[in-house]
Amino acid sequence: MTIQWFPGHMTRARRQIQEKLKLIDIAIELLDARVPLSSRNPMIDEILQGKPRLIVLNKADLADSRTTEQWIAAFSGKGHACIAVDSSTGTKVNEIPVRTKQLLHEKIARQISKGMNPRAVRALIVGIPNVGKSTLINRLAGRNIAATGDRPGVTKGQQWIKVGTEMELLDTPGILWPKFEDQLVGYRLAMTGAIKEQILNVEDVAFFAVKELVKRYWPTMAERFGIVEPPKDTEDQDEIVRVMEDIGRKRGCIVSGGRVDLEKTSGIILRELRAGNLGRISLETPEDMG
Ligand code: G4P
Repeated sequence: MTIQWFPGHMTRARRQIQEKLKLIDIAIELLDARVPLSSRNPMIDEILQGKPRLIVLNKADLADSRTTEQWIAAFSGKGHACIAVDSSTGTKVNEIPVRTKQLLHEKIARQISKGMNPRAVRALIVGIPNVGKSTLINRLAGRNIAATGDRPGVTKGQQWIKVGTEMELLDTPGILWPKFEDQLVGYRLAMTGAIKEQILNVEDVAFFAVKELVKRYWPTMAERFGIVEPPKDTEDQDEIVRVMEDIGRKRGCIVSGGRVDLEKTSGIILRELRAGNLGRISLETPEDMG
């Protein structure tokens, strides 16, 4: 799903999340482990209004595990509990209820000291489109929850999904918007598939992808596509296009006159990258946080 965000949409999305905040004990901020900065809403601290929060780096199966560890340390260093999961297979997803309960232990202890029977921890998942919110909800629920509440015209009351005995999750997630003003963010999200090509030109996205990949993951690229000559200068556009053409030739994307079909080549590069065929790739490290 790709949503075009306008100021009106943002205000509405923000209001919807803030209404849900009244119902919950903790927010689960879902980010893409490959691009934790670009997949982060720029106003998240303001939106969550000091609600306890667990940052969950999703799609960790596609990210560089060393970089993911660095991100966990970096977020923890800034006072945010953070874990990495793979919602598509369920790896580490079980840690979510455990960590949320830990984060709320003081509140739970207070309830117990007042003689109250602590109820299940109530949580809301928030994140930008395509970060994996529905996949995670279904994984935590252990079944498929139809997200009918998200469709226009379909109204549905809030429902709580039981996650074991100690956690309850709101069945519709909070949808956030990414930081659009920054072009780099747009390209990184397009590389990971969060923004579809209809919005950005496929060749531009693939060009950006190849440029990033030759800088960060040259050996992996060279091996996957069977190309041998690294670009002499990764800032030289012609050199990057030359690498794209090499890939196109290797993949048989040739049009009449022996020219490389760059559009077709671009599609192949992006498809393989997003499917994880180029290996685990992280496009942002905590150093990019500034
Ligand atoms: P959203 O609700 O936040 O919009 O995201 P959604 O769950 O629809 O997930 C977006 C895409 O990301 C889906 O792929 C989903 O399968 C994939 N995904 C979610 N979590 C993970 C994960 O931890 N690892 C990996 N590798 N992929 C994940 P899709 O191609 O759009 O749909 P589908 O073909 O899987 O149905």
